Order: sequence, then structure tokens, then C-alpha cells
Amino acid sequence: SAPVVTIDGPSGTGKGTLANLLARELGWHYLDSGALYRAVGWAAIQAGIPLEAAHAEELGTLARNLEIRFQPEAEGPVRTFIGKQEVTQELRSGPVSEAASIVASMKPVRDGLLDLQRRFREPPGLVADGRDMGTVVFPEAPAKVFLTATPEERARRRYEQLRGQGCDVSLERITQELRQRDERDTHRNVAPLRPSEGAYVIDTTDISIEEVVAETLRRVRQ
Ligand code: CDP
Repeated sequence: SAPVVTIDGPSGTGKGTLANLLARELGWHYLDSGALYRAVGWAAIQAGIPLEAAHAEELGTLARNLEIRFQPEAEGPVRTFIGKQEVTQELRSGPVSEAASIVASMKPVRDGLLDLQRRFREPPGLVADGRDMGTVVFPEAPAKVFLTATPEERARRRYEQLRGQGCDVSLERITQELRQRDERDTHRNVAPLRPSEGAYVIDTTDISIEEVVAETLRRVRQ
């Protein structure tokens, strides 16, 4: 089957940027798995399903039946639709980020998204961005990258990114939300965030995205 590069790590390490640039450079498909968890979080809020363990099965069904569509644009970010509704902006909001991280800790939800994620693996290849791309979804991927950065730098980047999108947020608030999400993603029982065996770990705190792309391409082409 088609080759896969997995890019995992916490928020604000530059995963999305790296994965996008890499996919463009290689001419491969791109999977933003975080958007799938965000979509489930959004759909759960819409449907009024409580984000609690007692509703995990119901949320799993929601995940399995998710009708999500990514529409790349010539310019600007990829547009995301759930059913017929565009949700590009909504998926980035604070409440949806938190909902994503809560539903992501539930096994039925993670299982419900597995097939969908694996269907993105098509010729000529796939760049998969997330938290468990190397550990769970594509464990046999020939090239795996895990990005890290200090919490301060990650919060700063996320702050700049949201500001750039016109969101009215404070650095304090972002720092706190990030810490909470890290805590949940690292300590959950299913697919906790950690580098996959054989992953190439890059600390991006003090290096430019161009350097990270160049280094990853070297690895992929080896
Ligand atoms: O952009 P950012 O890194 O902040 O978040 P994201 O990649 O869009 O992911 C949102 C949430 O989905 C994360 O906080 C994780 O809880 C969850 N997630 C996951 O559990 N597994 C993945 N492969 C991707 C995301």
C-alpha cells in the first residue's frame, strides 16, 4: 500500500505546518486527524450529547457515522464541512478544542474514527498529522516524526496563530487551555500522547520550520 509519514506531537509544535508543507513538497495526501476529533466534539455539542463517559458509546456512533469533507482551496486554509454545513471557523474555537480533547479520551470514539483515517492512505502517499498516527493508526509507517517544543513557545505560537485569524484571545488563557489539553492527552487510558517507537524526535523550540521540513525530507527520502 501507499507510503505514510506520521507527524505526531502536542499543540503548537508546528505539526500542521510541517505536515502541510511536506504533503505539498511530496505531492501526497494530507490527513488532519485533529480535525476529525474536533468534528466529533462539534457534532456532540450540536446534538446535545453530554461529554461524559456514560455517553461514550453514543459518541462512538457519532464518530463512526461522521460525514466530514475537506475542501482544499487554491489560497488560504482548507475548508471543512460536516454534512452540508461549513464548520471551518467553528472547529478552531476554544469550546470545540476542549470537546475534542474530551471525546478523544474515549475508546469508542477513537475506534470509530480508525477506518476513516486509514482510508486517507492512497497513492502516491500520505502525510498524517496527529497524536497517535505513529503509535496506533499507522504503526507500520516507514517514517515517523515526533515534534516537541517548550510549553511557553507552544502557547506563544498558538496565540500568534489565533490572533492572526482574528480571534480575540489572551496569552494567559491559551497557556491554561494548552496545559489542560496536554494533561488530558498525555494521561488518558487510550492512545496516550507519546513518541512512537522508532520516531525521530525534533525539538522545534529554537529552529525554523524550514529546517524542520528539510530534516524530515532527508529522513523520508533515505
Ligand atoms: O491543533 P492542535 O494540535 O491544538 O489540536 P488538534 O491536532 O486539532 O487536536 C485536537 C484534539 O484532538 C487534541 O487535543 C487531542 O485530544 C485530539 N487528538 C487525538 O487524540 N488524536 C489525534 N490523532 C489527533 C487529535
